[in-house]
Amino acid sequence: MKYLMTCWLCLLFLSLPLLVWFGHVMRRGGPLPAVQSTGLRGYMKITPGRKEQFLDKHCSECALVSSSGQMLGAGVGEEIDKIGCVIRMNNAPTRGYEKDVGNRTSVRVVSHTSVPLLVKNELYYFQQSADTTYVFWGPERNMRQDGKGRIFNTLLKIAKKYPNVRIYAVTKEKIQYCDRVFQNETGKNRMKTGAFLSTGFFTMILAIDMCDSIHVYGMIDDNYCSRANHSVVPYHYYERNRINECRMYRVHEHTQRGGHRFITEKAIYAKWATRHRMDFKHPSWSF
Ligand SMILES: *[C@@H]1O[C@H](CO)[C@@H](O)[C@H](O)[C@H]1NC(C)=O
Ligand SMILES: *[C@@H]1O[C@H](CO)[C@@H](O)[C@H](O)[C@H]1NC(C)=O
Ligand SMILES: *[C@@H]1O[C@H](CO)[C@@H](O)[C@H](O)[C@H]1NC(C)=O
Repeated sequence: MKYLMTCWLCLLFLSLPLLVWFGHVMRRGGPLPAVQSTGLRGYMKITPGRKEQFLDKHCSECALVSSSGQMLGAGVGEEIDKIGCVIRMNNAPTRGYEKDVGNRTSVRVVSHTSVPLLVKNELYYFQQSADTTYVFWGPERNMRQDGKGRIFNTLLKIAKKYPNVRIYAVTKEKIQYCDRVFQNETGKNRMKTGAFLSTGFFTMILAIDMCDSIHVYGMIDDNYCSRANHSVVPYHYYERNRINECRMYRVHEHTQRGGHRFITEKAIYAKWATRHRMDFKHPSWSF
């Protein structure tokens, strides 16, 4: 008898939440509200459906692999392969460079200017690289969603053609936020000083949003090029015989209009490294 009693109580308890839920639905007299979209609100999925979806990705450990020529001969491919999330930039390849840069890409952050390079090799990027999430950034004129954003339109076509592809755009608000961060850190207005933020800057911001700890590979610090013994390497590991990294950085740092302030940005990362779990390897940074 006692046993039966407990059983009845059990049933009652189990069905109570169901009853409450049912009552709730009946009272509303309509469908349940859409589930609140979760994820990082600075990065919005590009889908034909136009439903708001944010980048829902979190990694305990990330490798942020720079495209710098410093990666040539670094021999850290296996070390990078062991890290949960591997972040790369633009069209930086892994094939042929596995020993130095690893063989997986979890997230690729891509500049609007590099979109044609990816489209040229679209089967590789959007069909064969099924494990990669893409995050595109660009100025409003190229990324606007009213039909007049040339690059956004291209990406929307890709999203329609490859339904499984995961492509996101950095939102206009997030880009404005990045400008405010630059101004806060340097005291200079990004636009008024004729500078463009680099893909590296947006990638660092994304890594901070997405990763608990970040291992940065192949990035030089802001003083590297002024040291007498610095090594001369290509600007990109996959483009030999081009202008070397330090010359490229110096030209950009002093260009009046449209330059990337690579050196200033590195000084900013050094400050972030004091507030976030972040380390720098090949070359390593000392603080
Ligand atoms: C990637 O490299 C690791 C060793 O670093 C190896 O174990 C793995 O099989 C490789 N994966 C692919 C897809 O080549
Ligand atoms: C602005 O800069 C200060 C000092 O570097 C820092 O503590 C603060 O978090 C920054 N705020 C933003 C929004 O970047
Ligand atoms: C350059 O010299 C400094 C010491 O002055 C040393 O710490 C650094 O590793 C050297 N860099 C290279 C690339 O050899």
